[in-house]
Amino acid sequence: MVNSIFSNKCSRLSGDIIVPGDKSISHRSLIIGSMVTGKIKIKNLLESEDVIATADALKKLGLRINKNNKIWEVIGDGIGNLNGSDFYLDMGNSGTGARLLMGLIAGSDVEATIAGDDSLSKRPMKRIILPLLKTGATFDNPNNDNLPIKIKGSKIPIPVEYESPVASAQIKSSILLSGLSSIGNTSVIEPALSRDHTERMLKFLGAKISTTQLPNTYWKITMEGLPTLKPLDIEVPSDPSSAAFPVVASLITPNSQIKVLNVCVNDLRMGLYKTLIEMGANISFSNRRNINGEPIADITSSYSILKGITIPKSRVASMIDEYPILSIAAIKAQGNTIMNGIEELRYKETDRITAMCRGLNSLGIETTGNRDSMVVKGQGFNYSLNGNVTIKSNLDHRIAMSFLCAGLIAENPIKVEDTDTINSSFPLFLETMNGIGAKLSYV
Ligand code: S3P
Repeated sequence: MVNSIFSNKCSRLSGDIIVPGDKSISHRSLIIGSMVTGKIKIKNLLESEDVIATADALKKLGLRINKNNKIWEVIGDGIGNLNGSDFYLDMGNSGTGARLLMGLIAGSDVEATIAGDDSLSKRPMKRIILPLLKTGATFDNPNNDNLPIKIKGSKIPIPVEYESPVASAQIKSSILLSGLSSIGNTSVIEPALSRDHTERMLKFLGAKISTTQLPNTYWKITMEGLPTLKPLDIEVPSDPSSAAFPVVASLITPNSQIKVLNVCVNDLRMGLYKTLIEMGANISFSNRRNINGEPIADITSSYSILKGITIPKSRVASMIDEYPILSIAAIKAQGNTIMNGIEELRYKETDRITAMCRGLNSLGIETTGNRDSMVVKGQGFNYSLNGNVTIKSNLDHRIAMSFLCAGLIAENPIKVEDTDTINSSFPLFLETMNGIGAKLSYV
């Protein structure tokens, strides 16, 4: 049976909320935690399907991972100590889990088959296979771009310097994780800096990592192999990509003001917030502080009169997951919102350019997409969205949540189908949104 949610017009959003722990940091706390010798305690781990898939895969590889009174504990055996073969690791919907684990396995004496759901099985994997081949890992079929893929790692991988054609934290992290057990330096060069949670966490635990900008403006990240990682506890801050949904909902719903607490405000994740502020959004940051190497703050946002802008290609990496919800904010902006250099969106949980164009056009919002760009024709703050449409999630949690936010300003309900996928990043999305005044209901 198809699981669906209706979103209905609401009069106002208000209140303080906490959104779940950051997905990227949660995956990394489990994976990097498993490389430490000793016990790491993790507070506020995102208990979503994606992250649980990573925890389950690590357990299958023999790691001891338990939950004790809301605190997760990982007992690591140290770098390079995983071994075994014939593992079958089902990573569900999670591209991050699949690609980071392939990096970990490439640097271990492990042979495993990595599999995923229908959405993940269509996503490109050669981008990971090519660099990992250089470390000495082997694959059953190195020409295969899609899961399931069998990978065999090596206990002492070759330290590599790899120039990635795209700025991708998953590619970068996969290579760095493989290099943990190398003798020597592992370097990744990327055309723009992608999110740096792997580097920050490894540094926090004691690894030596440097990041430098090259004369051609590319970035080079270098890590010394065989670091001694200290068993320090990790607190996962709230996910700015999840906070984006209530924040944008409050900007487009009249009379609204909300505060999202304890959000990770790492600059390399802040592209959407910068963009919204340039569009005229009332967004402010308070109570800034640091936890285990990551900056956090509370984010206050309120109903705003928005204008369309052109978002530069240079900002893509820092808001890669936020274009779907930005497109919803763009409906109420005055003028066009133009998104350039976004081809990578075609390789996410679904082809997000196609999904956003199709969904917005069905809502009556003229939206055009190209290979690597998209334009939403904004209707201004007085515009009244008709609604009365059904959107398919295509197993993409962010497409589902984005159109549910659009329903809050539509005269007639918007129905989103296949909404269970929201559990991959934001369990309790419906309850959290309704807690501040949204009107979401299960069909
Ligand atoms: C992630 C990296 C991003 C992002 C994904 C999470 C990560 O992908 O889209 O949701 O945790 O490393 P890229 O590989 O495009 O940076």
